[in-house]
This record gives sequence, C-alpha cells and structure tokens, in this order.
Amino acid sequence: MSQRSNFSSKIGFVLAAAGSAVGLGNIWRFPYLAAQYGGGSFLFVYLILAVTFGFTLMITEIAIGRKTGLSAIGAFKKLDRRFSFLGVFSAIIPIIIFPYYSVIGGWVLKYFSVFVSGNSSKAASDTYFNGFISSTTEPIGWFFLFIAFTAIVVLLGVQKGIETVSKFMMPILVILSVGIAFYGLTVDGAIDGLVYYLKPSLENFSIKTILAAMGQLFYSMSLSMGIMITYGSYLKKDNNLESSVRQIEIFDTGIAFLSGLMIIPCVFAFSGGTTESLNQGPGLMFVTLPKMFTSMPMGNIIGTLFFLLVFFAALTSAISLMETIVSIFRDKFHWKRKFTCGLVTVITLLMGIPSSLGFGPWAHIKFIGLSILDTFDFISNNVLMPILAFFTCIFVGFIIKPKTISDEVKIGNPKFKGEKLFSIMIKWIAPICLIAILISSILNTLGIIVL
Ligand code: PHE
Repeated sequence: MSQRSNFSSKIGFVLAAAGSAVGLGNIWRFPYLAAQYGGGSFLFVYLILAVTFGFTLMITEIAIGRKTGLSAIGAFKKLDRRFSFLGVFSAIIPIIIFPYYSVIGGWVLKYFSVFVSGNSSKAASDTYFNGFISSTTEPIGWFFLFIAFTAIVVLLGVQKGIETVSKFMMPILVILSVGIAFYGLTVDGAIDGLVYYLKPSLENFSIKTILAAMGQLFYSMSLSMGIMITYGSYLKKDNNLESSVRQIEIFDTGIAFLSGLMIIPCVFAFSGGTTESLNQGPGLMFVTLPKMFTSMPMGNIIGTLFFLLVFFAALTSAISLMETIVSIFRDKFHWKRKFTCGLVTVITLLMGIPSSLGFGPWAHIKFIGLSILDTFDFISNNVLMPILAFFTCIFVGFIIKPKTISDEVKIGNPKFKGEKLFSIMIKWIAPICLIAILISSILNTLGIIVL
C-alpha cells in the first residue's frame, strides 16, 4: 500500500487498465454471445450500454479508488462503514471468475500448440474441439499450464515486463484481426454473416439480448469486482478521468467488435450460419477460426500468431484477476506474498477442475440447464455483478451523492462533459434497469417466465 500513484503517465494507466479489460471476454466471449443473442441487435444494445452504463460504472469505480487511495474493501469502508459489505462482496467475484477463466486460457494454449506444431488441419474438423474438451485429463493439463504461467508472473512480480510485451502485442492483435476479418469477408457466404452481425432487427431482439449484453459489459470491462477501484487508487490526481475512461472503453469495445467481425461472418461462410452453428456457445471461436485459417494462405503461421496474441491478452487479464485475489487475502490475513500466491494457485486449480470436467465426464451435471463452467459464468456475470452494481449506484446516488464522484473527476478535468448523464444514470436509470434485469434474469433461468 505504500506505493500509490505509480502510473507515471496517462497512457500508462490507460494501457494497464486496458490490459485487464481486453482479454478472453472480448475475443472469446463477445462473439459467441453476439452470434447467439441476435447479431446486430446484440451489438446495438451492447454499444448503448457501453456508453451509458459502462461509462457511469467505470468512472465511479476509478474515482472511488483515486479518492480513497485504497482497494475495494478499504475504499468502501473509508467512505461509509455501513457499506463495507460492498467491498467484501466485490472480493468474491474474481475468486469465482479466475478458475474458469483459466480453463479457457488452457484451451487457447492447446490451440496455440496445435498450430505451432503444424497440425492446424486437424483442428479444422468438426469433431476436433468436442473431442478435446470432452476428454478428462488433457484440458486439465492445459488449464494447469495456464495457471502456472499466471502464477509465475505474479509470484516473481514481473507484471511490468508482461505489460511491456503486451503493449507491442495489442496493436499487432488489432492489425492481425483486421486482416483476418477482411480475408473472412471474401469467403463465399460471409456477407450474410456480416449483415447478421451489423444490422439490428426486431426479429432477432429479445429480453435475453439485453441480459446477455449487460453481463458481457461487466465482464469485458472488468467492472463490479473491485479491479477498477484498485487501478484508480494508483492514479494521480491530475489525470483526466473522463477521457481515460473513454479511451479504455473504446479500446475494449473496439477489440470486441473486431473479434465479432472476424468470427461471425466466418460462421456463415464455413458452417452455414444455421441456428445450431450460431448457438454453439463457448466453443464458437475454437470451432470456427481453425476452419478459416486452414483455408487461407500461410494459415498455419497466422493461426499460430493469432493464438499467441490471444494468449497474451488472456494472460494480462488473468494476472489482474490473480493480483486482486492475492491482495484481498494479504490485506485481510497479512500472509506472506509467496504463501498467498501458492494458496490462491491451489484453490484456483481445485475450483477450475470441475469446470473443465463439466464438458467431459461430468457433462451430465447441470445447474438450471447450464454446464458447470457456464454456471460459474452466470453466477458471477448475471447475478453477483448486477447486484453489486445496483448497491454501488444506490451508495453513490443517495449516500455519498454523485457530487462526490463529480468533484473527484473535476480535479483533473474541470469540464466534466458527461456530468449530467452520469448523475441521472447513477441515481435513477442504472439502479432501476439493474433491478429489472436481475429479476428477469433470475426468473427466466428458474423457468418461471420464459423470455
Ligand atoms: N475483462 C477481462 C476480459 O475481457 C476479464 C476479466 C474479468 C479480467 C474480470 C479481470 C477481471 O477478458
């Protein structure tokens, strides 16, 4: 806690926060949700939520962090003791996300290894992905390897090195994605996919579109789990919060958009864009992209590079998750760093194994119709995060008042352009929508109402 304010430049802060935000959420999760929940309608709803909800919640979290100079647990306590439960609550969320996030990180490593060893054509077959995830030990092995990479970085404290590497990797990822997307659009049938992805239509819209987009927003922007509060706590007072938040959002949303552009037209070109192919869920990227890579010149090299870059993006997000969990435990129990890292690694391994087995030997275990991994995903993104966001809005809107946040924003930026929007959102629109979303999401999942 002694080294606050250690971002020397604005861009350093933006890149660090973007390193946490940009990850599997953008590249793996966004496209499969967009494919499943309405294409252009999903994209449209997501963009609206990003500039309203996303903006409001992110600026709130970063401002709370900067004002108090503390991470979530301490920050809420300092602002109002009665609301310290919010900090504790936000600590639970990364503990749920990190294990299953690393399972998917393991899948990325597996695909990297397949491409680097020149076996991409195998990966392009329809049965390959299911064969892989339904086996017992192999996915667990890759999951362990992903955790090992993350844990080593956190244990050795070499995050800065990784951040430097990812500063180079991110722009390459953007350029590569643009190239892949352009290539994909030249394949027969892809234009239908492009239209589906870009054109909102009432026909493809349902309440589920909003529910899915909202959960994705929290997940993708690393909101409602204390991470942005911690980043804010390291921020200098003269930083222009409003423009930093805008830049992080543009980065994050841009990469998600590009990933959708790469994957969805490809689902139409190679798998016919049938409902079944669009509703594949977590496997979508892994099933679809190898088909395109094997069809393009130098596909093996491009595929190798792509999965390597996705791995780096996933690693920087995983590091931010693990860092958060380690600091929560250390703040609470004052354990040594090494011991805490070891313990968090073991807990994560144990918690992640069921998520991995849930696609294989434990596929019969379902909660409310969802696989084990999807259950963790649902609980964190569609239940806990909206609850926490709701209380945060009430807390800011009615207890400490929006002015406290606006005043903090104005320290580095006397002209807070979004101030009006922010006040109305945090006090009224956000909490009302959040409650409506939460209730309908729970009722729908329990099968009480069908949306
Ligand atoms: N936002 C990250 C992503 O899009 C995931 C993440 C969630 C990272 C929560 C940190 C905390 O992949």
